Amino acid sequence: MAGRFSHASIEKHAYVLLILALLTISIGGIVEIVPLFTIETTVEHVKGVRPYSPLEQAGRDIYVREGCYLCHSQMIRSLRDEVERYGHYSLAAESMYDHPFQWGSRRIGPDLARVGGKYSNDWHYGHLINPQSLVPESLMPKYAFLAETPLAYGNIAEKLKTLRIVGVPYSDDEVTNAKADLEAQATPGADTDALVKRYPKAIAVPGNGKSVTELDALVAYLQVLGTMVDFADPSAENLQQ
Ligand code: HEC
Repeated sequence: MAGRFSHASIEKHAYVLLILALLTISIGGIVEIVPLFTIETTVEHVKGVRPYSPLEQAGRDIYVREGCYLCHSQMIRSLRDEVERYGHYSLAAESMYDHPFQWGSRRIGPDLARVGGKYSNDWHYGHLINPQSLVPESLMPKYAFLAETPLAYGNIAEKLKTLRIVGVPYSDDEVTNAKADLEAQATPGADTDALVKRYPKAIAVPGNGKSVTELDALVAYLQVLGTMVDFADPSAENLQQ
């Protein structure tokens, strides 16, 4: 009896070895793959994290198109020097609505995960148009053309609907009002009450009063980065992993 299924005998029976090996590998596979199907419950939701407003989302697309991630990461690691320089380390939930996420791995410029609210809107406009005018030693390229390029947002409602397919919980109300919300966030003197109700903490950018530009969208996006979670609120701390 003893030894019938011992190691030596398993190794001498090719088919038994094959079946047992397959069984072992599939258990390993299942353990790794199954949690990915329940990703919504795996990534703990943190108070304050919301989908991007339509203008912020459009700005994010400009950020990706221009390759800002080639010089800027958006991921503060839980190391003391990083936290002292950039603020609270990044939580998984803070990028749960990012498709694709912008963690990045290169830092020719500083991490931008919490750049929102660090500077005024005017500073961002001036800096993106001509970085060297504000930071003389900067090697960041000029993006002045974004200020002259009207934002193409005819498809903004469709964009939100598409993001819904990959799990960003835009409501019907948000999709219906996408265009109005986008314009409200970048039009001088516009009523932003409905926008801020749907997207708390959305920062209105000055705009030029004629057309919404790509620069308006990019600045709205930069201004929300890292501001959604209120780390001074103890209940936000409780929720993080
Ligand atoms: C070639 C590398 C490079 C690229 C590409 C680049 N940047 Fe920068 N960026 C830098 C450097 C270097 C700095 C630091 C000096 C400065 O403030 O200009 C910086 C600074 C910044 C800052 C200020 C950050 C802070 O905390 O002070 C912001 C905001 C910023 N960049 C946004 C962008 C955006 C948006 C894009 C894409 C449109 C972009 N950058 C593309 C290199 C780059």
